[in-house]
Amino acid sequence: MINIELLSKFYQEEYKIVKENNEINFDAFINNEIKRYKLKKLSFPTLIGIKITNRCNFNCPFCFSSKKNPKDLSEKELLHIIKQLKIYKPHSIYITGGEPFLNSNIFYLLNELKKLNIKLSIHSNGSLIDEYIAKKLSELLDEKDSIQISLDGYDNETFKITRNSNLFKKVINGINLLVKENIYVKINTVVTNLNVNYLDKIYELSSDLGVNEISFSPLLNIKKSEKIYLPSDDLLLKIFQMY
Ligand SMILES: C[S@@+](CC[C@H](N)C(=O)[O-])C[C@H]1O[C@@H](n2cnc3c(N)ncnc32)[C@H](O)[C@@H]1O
Repeated sequence: MINIELLSKFYQEEYKIVKENNEINFDAFINNEIKRYKLKKLSFPTLIGIKITNRCNFNCPFCFSSKKNPKDLSEKELLHIIKQLKIYKPHSIYITGGEPFLNSNIFYLLNELKKLNIKLSIHSNGSLIDEYIAKKLSELLDEKDSIQISLDGYDNETFKITRNSNLFKKVINGINLLVKENIYVKINTVVTNLNVNYLDKIYELSSDLGVNEISFSPLLNIKKSEKIYLPSDDLLLKIFQMY
């Protein structure tokens, strides 16, 4: 496990890889280590995603995650994964799905991963987060962990168009509960032709909700379609320059 204090002492002057808040910029650190030891590749990934379930309560029109074999990872399967992680200790892990909160084993997994002191992120649609879940997360997660909530619209109607779901209010309620518990919340917006003209509204809403971060990711891996596509680079550049 990386000792951040020792590292920051060593790297503060030599390499500019310590962030202002005294955190290690992990990507820069790994880059330096690869150069320093002339490595071709690392012996183990630094970031690992655990797809805890294939099941989802949403049916997003552009989703790249297969739901063909609806299955949850059992406690036994998770234990096997945890044993491997104990040996290799990646820097960070994200838990995803499907919708990860459909598998109640998520709390068992979080509990075990926190014992390994690995930085965690959970990727969720936010619709199942109630007071009980928000409280439990605030007990399990620490300040370097985060929860990423998908938000591709800014009201009932735009949410329905982009996510094919009527659960906009539930998602907003989930985000409010997480913010109230002081959990680091990141909003992720998948940019498509459907929402490219109101990204500013999604940004404003996220900012009003008091989240910590918002990221815009491009639509990936989707078969060419006239209904849903990634707008041209020119249009994206124009839109982002306006803000
Ligand atoms: C597959 S979802 C699973 C976690 C959770 N159910 C959710 O909605 O966030 C993880 C992330 O991938 C994004 N995503 C899904 N399909 C995508 C695509 N074709 N291109 C880019 N991002 C996509 C979602 O919007 C979400 O932010």
